[in-house]
Amino acid sequence: MADDTSQPHAKMGFYTRLSHAGRAGTNVRGFVNPAVHRGSTMLYAKMADRVAAASERLEQKPHYGTGGGPTHWPLENVIAEIEGGTRCQIVSTGLAAVTVPLQAYLKAGDHVLMPDSVYGPARNFCDNFLSRFGVQTTYYNPCITAAEIEPLFQPNTTVLYTESPGSHTFEVQDIPALAAVAHAKGAKVLMDNTWGIHFFQPFRHGVDVSIQALTKYVVGHSDVLLGSITVNSNEDWARVRGTASVLGQYASPDDCWLALRGVRTMAVRLDRQMASALEVARWLAARHEIAQVLHPALPGAPGHAIWKRDFTGACSLFGIVFKPGITQPQVHAMADALQLFGKGASWGGYESLALPTSGFITRTANSGDFGGQMMRLHIGLEDPTDLIADLAQGLDVLRATKP
Ligand SMILES: Cc1ncc(COP(=O)(O)O)c(C=O)c1O
Repeated sequence: MADDTSQPHAKMGFYTRLSHAGRAGTNVRGFVNPAVHRGSTMLYAKMADRVAAASERLEQKPHYGTGGGPTHWPLENVIAEIEGGTRCQIVSTGLAAVTVPLQAYLKAGDHVLMPDSVYGPARNFCDNFLSRFGVQTTYYNPCITAAEIEPLFQPNTTVLYTESPGSHTFEVQDIPALAAVAHAKGAKVLMDNTWGIHFFQPFRHGVDVSIQALTKYVVGHSDVLLGSITVNSNEDWARVRGTASVLGQYASPDDCWLALRGVRTMAVRLDRQMASALEVARWLAARHEIAQVLHPALPGAPGHAIWKRDFTGACSLFGIVFKPGITQPQVHAMADALQLFGKGASWGGYESLALPTSGFITRTANSGDFGGQMMRLHIGLEDPTDLIADLAQGLDVLRATKP
């Protein structure tokens, strides 16, 4: 394996790794960053070269544009390195990073276990797409224990899907315990690790395939959609890479270049955003309108014990549950009143977002009832004191609005 993918910085600090990972051999004429290589057709000097390239499709070698090129590979390598995996496939969106591995490991007649808290479009993919191909889905409570999930496995269960924490309700899953059951049953463990980024090391906790929406903190500027699928074995690499290839998955080199630029500064953004999010979360937890703050890194919050055991940090996305009696019109009035928080989906950019979520979340496995209206907050790079002042005036509007 080339120097790039053997993780030469694995023992170094995260800041060092983000500055150096994936850069070996990528500079052109001395410039620090790789160039944007666009291309479909690859020309070969001789037929023998073309024949050789065809047998090296699992490697970072050029054969045709869809196999990626010199702008994709440094990004693949840096993501594999920060997740502690061996190989990474970049795909067009975070959603594609969800659907490609599901298609890689499921076939007609198979069964998949999905957490009830799963990202909505992943649920849609199971219910309205995989179902057409004879794949059956069972949703399970994300807080399920190993003993409780065991009977949900069927002889045809080939995938245990996980997402921890859930990106709307922030349930932290006991991944090592659930993975042990899945492996004993012969199933693969897939995980959406977008919230955990590098704070959760998936392969040390029993995950086989780690999914990230790079759209969020890696890109960091709310202007590019990209996904990554990282694995830790040659067998899984062949499966994932082969499926991405058969599906024609491709990401623009311009987008990969922007994501590479984003990843180099991600550590400082994450540090700042994590600290600001905790400051805002603590302030909210003390407000009398708020029943609960769903931030796994906040002592006392749901899932905190597992977060403390398995994670080394947190991103800046969390939820709040309003006290019973506070109504949806009041929460929507608060959202409308906020000046610094945009109302919109996605997260991980430099700007803060507030999204009332009650009524937008589907649950079918008896989970997710927190007893009050909910709002998801993404904390950006603004000053936390300004964000808190904005939330305070938003709560004034909430109280002044007729229930
Ligand atoms: C947890 C999670 N996974 C995957 C995705 C999909 O990412 P993308 O928007 O790049 O398709 C999202 C997007 O919001 C998400 O929140």
